[in-house]
Amino acid sequence: MAIRAYVFDAYGTLFDVHAAVRRHAAAIGPESQRLSDIWRTKQLEYTWVRSLMGRYRDFWSLTEEALDHAIAAAAPGAAPLRAQLLDAYRELDAYPEVRGVLTRLKDGASLAILSNGSPDMLDAAVASAGIGDLLDAVISVDDIGVFKTAPAVYDLVGERLGVGPEEVSFQSSNRWDIAGAVAYGFRAAWINRSGQPDEYPDLAPALVLPSLEGLAG
Ligand code: LAC
Repeated sequence: MAIRAYVFDAYGTLFDVHAAVRRHAAAIGPESQRLSDIWRTKQLEYTWVRSLMGRYRDFWSLTEEALDHAIAAAAPGAAPLRAQLLDAYRELDAYPEVRGVLTRLKDGASLAILSNGSPDMLDAAVASAGIGDLLDAVISVDDIGVFKTAPAVYDLVGERLGVGPEEVSFQSSNRWDIAGAVAYGFRAAWINRSGQPDEYPDLAPALVLPSLEGLAG
């Protein structure tokens, strides 16, 4: 079956989630990487816990709550930087290959983002990365009030792009998101940027790549 749509996770896949803390690393001090890791880990944990409870709050709110926890846990001295870190999170760096790969894939397929991110965060990230002209759709879970890996999230792709699951190549650097996409029926490419060991053995990706580069020849 030919691929008619390439759909991308946003945070960690197109946009570098550690770029916000990196920009302020000197002011934060030696705990900066730990702060960034806890920020990301808690942000994701909140999505899963809230989805299971049926108590949705948008991803921006969870990003703020996760940062507050991470500052308290790892670097209380960074509290005065809270607003600057959140501003930086709205304008994360895109990974260097993103624009080139999207440009090459666009010839013959639809391109979209499918993300937990709230629409305003995604708009800001897409604008600052300068990739809005390449995307046919920016799809947010905010429309349905539940986060990945609920199958209803992956349903949004077919609803918005008019393609069947087997016609979709889904890319994510998050192995748990790949598990959700494989369970749903997408062809999935795990973008294993940081060389993580594999997991979810019964929900294996079709492809494992170190960056998005190998997607387009
Ligand atoms: C997203 C998060 C999971 O963009 O990275 O959906």
